[in-house]
Amino acid sequence: MDIKKLGPIGVEITGLNLKTINKDEAIQIKKNFLEFSVVVIRNQNLDPVDLKKISSLWGEALIHPVFKGIDGHPEIIEIRNYGEKYHTNAHWHSDVTFEEEPPDATLLYSLEVPKEGGDTLFSSQYLAYEELDADLKTSLVDKKAVHTNAGVLMLSGGDPKKAKTVEHPIFREHPETGKKALYVTEAFVQSIKGFNSKESQEILRVLYKRACNEQYIYRHKWLRGDLVVWDNRSTQHFAEHGYGDQTRTMHRLTTSGSKPF
Ligand SMILES: [Fe+2]
Repeated sequence: MDIKKLGPIGVEITGLNLKTINKDEAIQIKKNFLEFSVVVIRNQNLDPVDLKKISSLWGEALIHPVFKGIDGHPEIIEIRNYGEKYHTNAHWHSDVTFEEEPPDATLLYSLEVPKEGGDTLFSSQYLAYEELDADLKTSLVDKKAVHTNAGVLMLSGGDPKKAKTVEHPIFREHPETGKKALYVTEAFVQSIKGFNSKESQEILRVLYKRACNEQYIYRHKWLRGDLVVWDNRSTQHFAEHGYGDQTRTMHRLTTSGSKPF
């Protein structure tokens, strides 16, 4: 297997068949995942059973709290876009942060890709934390952000009045690497506890801008058969549209996590 660094974040792995992966290869994948936060594995041929099997490297496959899975595999969501004007995931976020224990990793596998468009952007939240203004870091060190699933409920036709909220630290420590990362997402954060609404929104604007600084980003151009796995504890991602009415089909699966601290 060959490993190539992709930019400020991410590695690409080629020369590997995930259907017949051995123990050493599994260790290498996990090591690179922890070090570089995004792992791109090209040229795979994975059915839903294979995808679930490989996901056990990261943890237990989760059932999404809002979106329904495919027949026989409730843990796998099919993301299929055809003729939509924009992508519902075209915003910076880490997955499902409105849960008490958000998923550690997300696996996204491409079945059909458009001729152009449909890139996914990944941004390192380690770098976003490291390079944040020192005074701002100090003032937010023990602060928590309030995350909500209201937006997701609206998108899925649910009742936003039934939305729940959960609090997570603004800077989370990665439980496996020990490194700190920025952990506020424009998609799911409502406010910062301990500030009034105006102050809260002003600080969040600064943090969101920092979170997607172009120097922290790897842009993934999908090929059919790509498996991309990202670490939700240290990255945010953005799903671009730009493929008009072409078909794009992906299988998505998340794995179990723990309470951010
Ligand atoms: Fe996402």
